[in-house]
Amino acid sequence: MRVEVVDEALTRGLRRSVLRPNLLPGAPLPGDELTGAVHLGAIGDDGVALCTCFIYRDAPPWQPGRTDGWHLRQMATLPGYRGRGLGALVVGAAVRQARERGGALLWCNARESAIGFYLRQGFRPHGGIFVEHEIPHQRLWLELGDAPTSSMQVEAGGDA
Ligand SMILES: CC(C)(COP(=O)(O)OP(=O)(O)OC[C@H]1O[C@@H](n2cnc3c(N)ncnc32)[C@H](O)[C@@H]1OP(=O)(O)O)[C@@H](O)C(=O)NCCC(=O)NCCS
Repeated sequence: MRVEVVDEALTRGLRRSVLRPNLLPGAPLPGDELTGAVHLGAIGDDGVALCTCFIYRDAPPWQPGRTDGWHLRQMATLPGYRGRGLGALVVGAAVRQARERGGALLWCNARESAIGFYLRQGFRPHGGIFVEHEIPHQRLWLELGDAPTSSMQVEAGGDA
């Protein structure tokens, strides 16, 4: 298993099936227009994407003039591989990539069901719960100077 910058096409099926299961395979996904996005993937030895997210330069809505803000989206782990540290590794890779590109703050609109995951990665809430596309969300942010860089070992062979 490796965690690295990948082509968006490699993680497309994973992002669609986990986050937009109502969309047909091959349908456009939100974010397709972001040609400058950096996609991260935990890729199994067989080349299958196990976990992913993407990031791009985008000021947080509460600090619109900020030029060192990066937005994290479409965080997804294949169901059979959850709880093994892959999400933490992919967020760690996203942090490093944002930092290397001059980023100082990483933020996201987290689904309520995933807030605990981001808090475990050191994110902090901004504001309360809001509903987007009928799903409760909360904005979360991480100051990159404070962010740990995970070197956790994971067992990625599995049952998905
Ligand atoms: C949220 C998600 C990406 C987490 O991925 P994962 O690979 O299972 O995460 P990890 O195994 O790296 O978990 C890291 C830590 O967060 C915790 N954690 C993971 N998911 C959690 C959740 N939903 N709520 C609370 N804590 C969570 C883990 O227990 C682990 O804790 P530890 O550091 O004490 O061991 C995955 O559950 C997922 O794909 N969910 C469905 C899609 C989704 O909601 N994506 C987020 C959209 S904003």
